[in-house]
Amino acid sequence: LPPNPPGPLEFNGTKLVNDRDHPWKPLQKGDIRGPCPGLNTLASHGYLPRDGVATPTQIIQAVQEGFNMDSGTARFVTYAAHLVDGNLVTDLLSIGGKTKKTGADPPPPAIVGGLNTHSVFEGDSSMTRGDDFFGDNHSFNQTLFDQFVDYSNRFGGGFYNLTVAAELRHRRIEESIATNPQFDFTSPRFFTAFAESTFPYTFFVDGRISDRTSAGLDMPNATLFFRDSKFPNDFWRPPAPTGGTGALEIFSAYPIAAGRNINGVNTFTPDPTSADFSNICLLYTNFVNRTVKGLYPDPKGVLRRNLIINLGYFYDAFGAADTCPEQFPYGTL
Ligand code: HEM
Ligand code: MG
Repeated sequence: LPPNPPGPLEFNGTKLVNDRDHPWKPLQKGDIRGPCPGLNTLASHGYLPRDGVATPTQIIQAVQEGFNMDSGTARFVTYAAHLVDGNLVTDLLSIGGKTKKTGADPPPPAIVGGLNTHSVFEGDSSMTRGDDFFGDNHSFNQTLFDQFVDYSNRFGGGFYNLTVAAELRHRRIEESIATNPQFDFTSPRFFTAFAESTFPYTFFVDGRISDRTSAGLDMPNATLFFRDSKFPNDFWRPPAPTGGTGALEIFSAYPIAAGRNINGVNTFTPDPTSADFSNICLLYTNFVNRTVKGLYPDPKGVLRRNLIINLGYFYDAFGAADTCPEQFPYGTL
């Protein structure tokens, strides 16, 4: 049985996380990294298995311990990723590409492709990774990182903060509209894009710095996290559990409807069936009834049982029981 999710941290203040028990190590043959600089860093420091294949429990524990991500956000993001990218029978998820290490595959249309899988979780207009259309949606992209630095210099005095986040998010969306004929900015990417824009100034800034949000992330440390999957020397995690606040402010600076390029570049068209900030419940219901159900139209046995269990953990993490009823596409146990 997939175990119950781990609870919140017992001690949830700041502390040294680049410690002697968690040294950075270079990649060994076969080690997997992917589109998420947070998880990459945790794997390269041994908070996650260094080969990049982990259980949801290990991921939730690692993001809490290493970055003080709050329990609700950690569980929501992790079970979302596991449901679409992980192996629900072996309970293993690759933080990058597809691998045999996650075990035998369920029947198609299931993918079990790890976090690199395009469009079920990973999506377009990332800050430091290219759009899937251009051939690599997961590797550190120096050209895009140069733009990240340029925007931090122009709008943040050399630091990535909320102001920079809003400008760069807008810029990356405009770039994708103008250059990626398959640009897709519908839910869940619509939400993860704005949420992930908050993560660098939330999680990559030392916990001992006061007023951390406005202080922002300096470029040497940004380079360590994004490119090298490496904590700065003497790095302390944030002083309190957080999910990365400011996503709505970043959206509100340049509001855009959820949508996609429907007929080549510069044909961005709103999709009214996508969830957006005015209908958060739809983020949950569409993810369950379209994305997960699309991958698992008719599961049997242990697979069905584990889908039901993981969907339950996902719904609990969503935390909107009063306004958004639970969905049971596979019935109940
Ligand atoms: C991006 C998964 C936690 C920081 C991503 C992406 C995935 C992902 C799939 C790629 C989305 C895309 O850009 O197309 C996860 C999962 C987590 C998690 C399953 C489990 C809780 C974290 C944490 C941090 C973090 C704790 C920070 C410490 C980021 C950032 C990006 C990102 C900054 C955007 C990268 C960019 O736009 O270039 N994550 N993540 N993530 N993640 Fe994570
Ligand atoms: Mg991406």
